[in-house]
Amino acid sequence: MPCAAAISSLLLLAVVHLTMAATTIEQLFPDSKTNLTTIKWAHRVNSQDDLNKALESSDIRMLEGDVIIGKLNNQSNGTDTVIMGHPPNTTSDLSLEEFLKKVTPDKKKGIKLDFKSIEAYEMGLTLIQKSGNLTIPLWLNADILKGPVNATDDPLPVDAKRFFAGAAKLPQALLSIGWTTRLEPSVQEGGSYTAEQINEMVKHVEESKTNQSVTYPVRACYAANDVNVLKTLLTSTKANNPTLTVWSSEGDKVDAAKLSQLIKTIGVNKVYVDVPAILWKQLDLSSSAYTARSSLPLLLASVVACIFTVKLL
Ligand SMILES: *[C@@H]1O[C@H](CO)[C@@H](O)[C@H](O)[C@H]1NC(C)=O
Ligand SMILES: *[C@@H]1O[C@H](CO)[C@@H](O)[C@H](O)[C@H]1NC(C)=O
Ligand SMILES: *[C@@H]1O[C@H](CO)[C@@H](O)[C@H](O)[C@H]1NC(C)=O
Ligand SMILES: *[C@@H]1O[C@H](CO)[C@@H](O)[C@H](O)[C@H]1NC(C)=O
Ligand SMILES: *[C@@H]1O[C@H](CO)[C@@H](O)[C@H](O)[C@H]1NC(C)=O
Ligand SMILES: *[C@@H]1O[C@H](CO)[C@@H](O)[C@H](O)[C@H]1NC(C)=O
Ligand SMILES: *[C@@H]1O[C@H](CO)[C@@H](O)[C@H](O)[C@H]1NC(C)=O
Repeated sequence: MPCAAAISSLLLLAVVHLTMAATTIEQLFPDSKTNLTTIKWAHRVNSQDDLNKALESSDIRMLEGDVIIGKLNNQSNGTDTVIMGHPPNTTSDLSLEEFLKKVTPDKKKGIKLDFKSIEAYEMGLTLIQKSGNLTIPLWLNADILKGPVNATDDPLPVDAKRFFAGAAKLPQALLSIGWTTRLEPSVQEGGSYTAEQINEMVKHVEESKTNQSVTYPVRACYAANDVNVLKTLLTSTKANNPTLTVWSSEGDKVDAAKLSQLIKTIGVNKVYVDVPAILWKQLDLSSSAYTARSSLPLLLASVVACIFTVKLL
């Protein structure tokens, strides 16, 4: 009996340790460390139905949802609260509170919350703090600067200083900070992130003095057009274990070959890919250099095998 008790408490400790430790997506899925593109995303998880589907899928590792202030459908005369939804919607059947309750550590999934306003962000952070020990990978996302191409005031970026100040209250969270974008058919093909936009972002991260890990969400159609500027972005923010998250909306016109090249040039260990299935299928992320490296041990093994065979003969 004491033995059984010891074993079960050891097991319990191990489970507690595992769930407590797994606050980054790479800790939860160690196999993804060398290739972040293996992380499968559920995008726009903003309703009960979408959430249930994503939670049931064994492939999905990250759930991305948008957070706004609004009303739950079933309480149309109730008070405003933080709900899952994308502007221009202002109602939803899923609150942030229920979203957090349902994505429990045993589901083995991480979440990326895309806050659509500073009000939704600050209200959401209070809720996350209140809900206590969140031990799943948590990404806090907001567009804190204006981006390509000549993005306007609609939507307005989330205030950068208030974003960093809030994030410091959740030190385990990864910061996903991006730029608002403007999509017009005429500029989609040539548009890209500019050196000014990149420098401004680097400056904000530096000034915030944050040591939290950072990922930069970049829109595929614009990211694909300039690799160098994004390389500079990552090398300039060394302290924050920086990565890119390439995202795309349904209907964006993206050059899949160029995008594949971007991801491979930056490195599959540095780029998360959250794009619609149609685009994902067109990407080629295998690298010939990688194949050559991985075949070296194979080659050595066969040489050794040959020597042995010769000796045996
Ligand atoms: C309203 O909907 C939410 C989310 O589905 C649910 O948790 C809550 O129980 C519902 N409230 C009422 C009064 O039906
Ligand atoms: C909501 O409004 C309806 C009709 O105006 C009313 O009957 C109901 O009691 C209200 N519910 C709440 C929670 O205030
Ligand atoms: C608004 O919500 C409805 C469902 O309630 C959904 O079908 C639609 O896609 C949402 N719109 C946006 C912009 O997310
Ligand atoms: C967090 O977990 C600790 C240890 O299990 C517990 O004492 C504390 O009450 C929890 N905090 C919240 C807000 O749930
Ligand atoms: C963006 O703004 C710059 C500077 O005002 C201007 O030169 C450029 O033509 C604009 N580009 C587009 C696509 O509107
Ligand atoms: C950031 O700094 C705090 C306090 O110095 C430390 O506890 C934490 O582990 C650091 N986080 C990272 C990601 O380095
Ligand atoms: C990375 O993962 C993707 C998706 O699973 C796969 O297609 C690709 O070949 C991998 N690339 C490398 C270099 O391992």
